[in-house]
Amino acid sequence: MTTGAQPGDLGIPRGKKPAIKDVARLAGVAVGTVSNVLNDRPSVTPETRERVLDVIARIGYVPNATARRLRNGEVTTVGAVVLDLANPFFTEMARGVEDRLSQDGHTVMLASSDEDAARERRYLDLLMQQGVRGLLITPSGPDLSHLSEIRARGTDVVLLDSFSRDFDSVWVDDIAGGAMAAAHLLDGGRARLAFMNGSRSVRQCEARYRGVERAILTRELDPTSLLTEITLRAPFTLELIAAATAELLDTSGPHPDAIVCINDVVALGVLQTLQARGISVPDDIAVVGYDDIMFSAMLSTPLTSVRQPTRKLGWTAADILLRGDDDRTGVEHVEFTPELIVRASSVSP
Ligand code: RIB
Repeated sequence: MTTGAQPGDLGIPRGKKPAIKDVARLAGVAVGTVSNVLNDRPSVTPETRERVLDVIARIGYVPNATARRLRNGEVTTVGAVVLDLANPFFTEMARGVEDRLSQDGHTVMLASSDEDAARERRYLDLLMQQGVRGLLITPSGPDLSHLSEIRARGTDVVLLDSFSRDFDSVWVDDIAGGAMAAAHLLDGGRARLAFMNGSRSVRQCEARYRGVERAILTRELDPTSLLTEITLRAPFTLELIAAATAELLDTSGPHPDAIVCINDVVALGVLQTLQARGISVPDDIAVVGYDDIMFSAMLSTPLTSVRQPTRKLGWTAADILLRGDDDRTGVEHVEFTPELIVRASSVSP
């Protein structure tokens, strides 16, 4: 039986992994020559190649794959920073990203910003240090100067579920989405709306609010007397949603007869609180969510929701990133249209 040489026999300190310079020393060549062999460059004679490969096999040298791929421009990882991976909307969108990336042998590295600009920047720095092929991001706020810097340093950036004139962007017409939700409730006879929103510094939250307001104004009604906005601070935990719903119900005066929620996760928390208090949905209060996540149709009171083409959003953003901008003169913008899915939480049978 033949046993391979131990690194200690070859001048490699025990416990240390063999490095490229060890291969070069033992094969009697320059480090650059080892690199040429590893990268299959034709400049190396067959004898030298054989000697280098022999040393690599003998000492068990494993090239640093990341460093090599970076040098060769073959990086296959894409970074994605979204608002909250605990929200099934974002995991579904990430699935769309993954589906497209895998077609080209790429993978995705995911992170949640929790709508916190400092956390978002920390993750972007980490992803840049890892050496990603490009970035997909749902920004936590309107200031995109850090993304401009990243792009100026040569990394492509595509906005995911967001829009900017200056960046490749894939988003949904959320003004239309907010308007659909409110129009459905107003036309169904509801007279006092609450909107459980996220921070309006996030594009979607601002746009959906404007949509709700627009539906009210279009009907020549007064948003100041008819609409109450509650702002939730991310991450939207069930405790936070329950507390906000309780506060809304406990405020003096008549409580709302309809609640529009910034997303389905919030709507699930609202439904739970209403049911725990014996409030009938939709008879006393109608509830409308946003996203139409998979679970929304499965509830005991199935949830009315504004559906987004979630997986397609992710797929399209990844597609733009992989195609790159070599053949284009400007940025690429893709806007999708939402759709209202009416279920039992907003209409009595
Ligand atoms: O608040 C975040 C929301 O924005 C998500 O639930 C989804 O609707 C996204 O578009």
